[in-house]
Amino acid sequence: MTLVAGIDSSTQSCKVVIRDAETGKLVRQGRASHPEGTEVHPDAWWAALQEAIEQAGGLDDVAAASVAGQQHGMVVLDENGEVVRPALLWNDTRSAGAAADLIQELGGGEKWADAVGIVPVASFTLTKLRWLARNEPENAARVAAVCLPHDWLTWKLTGSTNIDDIKTDRSDASGTLYWSAKTNEYRLDLLELGFGRRIKVPEVLGPTGIAGHLPNGAPLGPGAGDNAAAALGTGAGTGDVIVSIGTSGTVFVSSEVSPNDPTGTVAGFADTTGRFLPIVVTLNAARVLDAAGKLLGVDHAELSRLALSAPAGADGLVLIPYLEGERTPNKPDATGAVHGLTLKTSDPAHLARAAVEGMLCALADGLDALVANGATANRIVLVGGGARSEAVRKIAPELFGLPVLVPPPGEYVADGAARQAAWVALGGAEPPAWSAEQPETYEATPVPLIRQQYAAARDAVVDRAR
Ligand code: XUL
Repeated sequence: MTLVAGIDSSTQSCKVVIRDAETGKLVRQGRASHPEGTEVHPDAWWAALQEAIEQAGGLDDVAAASVAGQQHGMVVLDENGEVVRPALLWNDTRSAGAAADLIQELGGGEKWADAVGIVPVASFTLTKLRWLARNEPENAARVAAVCLPHDWLTWKLTGSTNIDDIKTDRSDASGTLYWSAKTNEYRLDLLELGFGRRIKVPEVLGPTGIAGHLPNGAPLGPGAGDNAAAALGTGAGTGDVIVSIGTSGTVFVSSEVSPNDPTGTVAGFADTTGRFLPIVVTLNAARVLDAAGKLLGVDHAELSRLALSAPAGADGLVLIPYLEGERTPNKPDATGAVHGLTLKTSDPAHLARAAVEGMLCALADGLDALVANGATANRIVLVGGGARSEAVRKIAPELFGLPVLVPPPGEYVADGAARQAAWVALGGAEPPAWSAEQPETYEATPVPLIRQQYAAARDAVVDRAR
């Protein structure tokens, strides 16, 4: 049996799966936690990766491995390959002002969409580099190279300490603001605009490019951003829009064409197969359910039961889920809100229902934006921790207006990385076809009222002054 390893270094944890390259059958797996916070030293990811690899029985017998990871995090290195300061993660909003400045300096969102397919928001790497240049000039002066979480871990796995050896892939490079998925080229002029000077950036590999080798000689694939890896891991086909409810909420689809959205709602990322991955990302997803559970003093199962016991639309109670500010819409300093409290709606069931509906409405807005930008949407494939909630699975089709397929719970990002590794090991024009377990399908009559009352409350939210 030819074995391959897939790694998912996500915001909250590191997962390793070892699978049969030919069939995709799961052979072994491991997992370890990451520290909390939006600023994390990469050494913590490395320690978690070592622990997860050990739990998964090691990598000595694998024929290839790939690393997928949380996107956009700014990993800055000095000329000896040492980390200059802890990484700022995708959900760190301190660079929101830098994002606004960059939009203005290039002459508007349209200019950015034309140049690199995405418009600056605090998540993207270049805005973090600008923040660093402005706020920590001593650290900025020591920076010789910048890379992303998955690039750094892949490089560490090769054992190299030479910054010239760092590689990345199209999917993650497309979220930096200095690489264009449309032209497959760096825009080092934009890197210079943001950071004030040019620094070393990783070589961008194609879908089965080799980023280096493990100690046993097995090749390391190019890796991927976590969303692109999830697209590969779920095996989603044409018209299958993936909605992932994890730390972030994401709505995306693999596409032959790149969007060009000057509003920045739809980002024009690349996928792992040489195509594109139009995507909408929210900052508030699974943790909205955690917060609602905490507020009500109940666990996830009870939150779900309560939500399903209230009527659709929660009798007008609307929860706006901007608990960590928000990225789509771009309101980094906004806070959450509850509208429509009455004597009737002031109970746990209504609040639980409003939390589930509010979180899903933000993602349904994302689906509308994808479709308005040319995506074909026939079905929703619902993944991520939030998909384990029965209330989420049952309410989702009322809001998306499409059948919702829920594959069995799994590590779809790590699986996508493993499938990429299998592609590297086995060769071929497309990734190997792995048989997937049957999803459950949820259908419901759409309830437009829920979206309408959410939209009215959403539009009333103001971003607090910076
Ligand atoms: C994508 C994004 C998030 C992170 C989460 O643009 O910021 O989905 O990749 O890990």
